[in-house]
Amino acid sequence: MSEQIAAKLPAHIGIIMDGNGRWAKLQNKPRIFGHKAGVEAIRSIVKASSKIGIKVLTLYAFSTENWKRPKAEVEGLMSLFSNYLKKEVNELHKNNVCFRIIGEKSMLSGSLVNLIAESEALTKNNTGLVLNIAVNYGGRDEIIWAVKEIARDIALGRMEPEDIDSGMLERHLYTAGLQDPDLIIRTSGELRLSNFLIWQSAYSELWFTDVLWPDFTEAVYMGAINDFQKRKRRYGGV
Ligand code: FPP
Repeated sequence: MSEQIAAKLPAHIGIIMDGNGRWAKLQNKPRIFGHKAGVEAIRSIVKASSKIGIKVLTLYAFSTENWKRPKAEVEGLMSLFSNYLKKEVNELHKNNVCFRIIGEKSMLSGSLVNLIAESEALTKNNTGLVLNIAVNYGGRDEIIWAVKEIARDIALGRMEPEDIDSGMLERHLYTAGLQDPDLIIRTSGELRLSNFLIWQSAYSELWFTDVLWPDFTEAVYMGAINDFQKRKRRYGGV
């Protein structure tokens, strides 16, 4: 790792992996072909993240809105998630990666939920990279869920409304215990967050590229990190 990279490394990076469909279309291939190529990009970026010492990597794989896609594409994506876990979890474990899914799992198939539970249990004590994959994730839903839990605690008399503060809310989010993302990357030229980590990204640096996700290489990733290292973060101060 170069000294420059080590200097001000983002601890937590979030990535909105976008452009798989367009990548496939450019090659006159079905959309799922782009998602499969996207898995290769995931492999290389997870490896690179571990190598340079990123602490947390959160990848947006499937939003609460993605159920609106054609049934065949949704099923294709679900089987890619299952295959990824079956094929990769041992390798992730060997590399000391702690794997987690963030999102509402109840809408996923029983077999996928089991695979997720096994993968999370196997890797839960690992001390290297924390890899969060966001599946059936929505930032607003995450906040609503947290508010409901807090409201329940108030109704049960376990706390007072005055006890609510940002630390408490954060403890009810999927990312409880993890630091907020320093850097959020989005590929494919779209310039929005699309309901990704909306609470946690309050002070994140945003980095956009026209590169489509399947073409997102380690070199492009290092470019994003390098740009991040040149940013001045003020968190509202001067
Ligand atoms: C966005 O591209 C991509 C997705 C909605 C799915 C991301 C999934 C993967 C990268 C592969 C499977 C993931 C795992 C964790 C194994 P898009 O389809 O919106 O592309 P488009 O905007 O060009 O249509």
